[in-house]
Amino acid sequence: TNKLLIAPSILSADFLNLQHEVQVATEAGADYFHIDLMDGVFVPHLTFGPDIIQALRSVTAVPLDAHLMVDHPENYVQSVVQAGANLVNIHVESTPHIYRLVQQVQELGAQAGVVINPGTSVSAIEAVLPIVDNILVMTVNPGFGGQKFIAATLFKIQQLARLKQKNNYHYSIEVDGGINEQTIQQCQAAGANIFVAGSYVFGHDISQRITNLKQAIIH
Ligand code: DX5
Ligand code: ZN
Repeated sequence: TNKLLIAPSILSADFLNLQHEVQVATEAGADYFHIDLMDGVFVPHLTFGPDIIQALRSVTAVPLDAHLMVDHPENYVQSVVQAGANLVNIHVESTPHIYRLVQQVQELGAQAGVVINPGTSVSAIEAVLPIVDNILVMTVNPGFGGQKFIAATLFKIQQLARLKQKNNYHYSIEVDGGINEQTIQQCQAAGANIFVAGSYVFGHDISQRITNLKQAIIH
């Protein structure tokens, strides 16, 4: 779809108050919760697995966006969907079988997304564009919250928006990393419609920050 959606990334939330922060963000109008699964191999850090997805599922009705930063994503797809993920985003760099994985996610009943790192070109995912539900363009290098937005990624968002229009594809275009009330406008202008924000939202007045992001894109 082309709907403008804000997806707070719980990577920057206070884990000891996760339920409360998720409820505050839900009331503030979060459209998705973005959950970063890291395995310490594809990226250096370890974060959460399907159990956290399931726990979040029980406290919010907001759709859950699972961002798999793992090697062998095929090992996680089923448990992530079963835990309650509505959208599963898989890095093209993490598998030689991206087409099959997209099909599997869709057969399991979830939306399938493909992720490209800052160093990966749009051409690497051209073959799956007709079937995917979402393209996640990393606007920082994956693995850490709080990094600086890489403006060179805007060109890829424009390319994807152009290909989408020209071929009548149905995917949404999501951005992740370094999103604040300025960079969100650049991404929107380039053609993105789902905006992940971690450190901009959490560790601050969550409700106010979500409102700021919404106001920045609605004009
Ligand atoms: C980075 C993660 C992001 C992270 C974004 O690897 O994929 O989802 O939470 O954090 P900010 O918004 O702080 O750049
Ligand atoms: Zn992410």
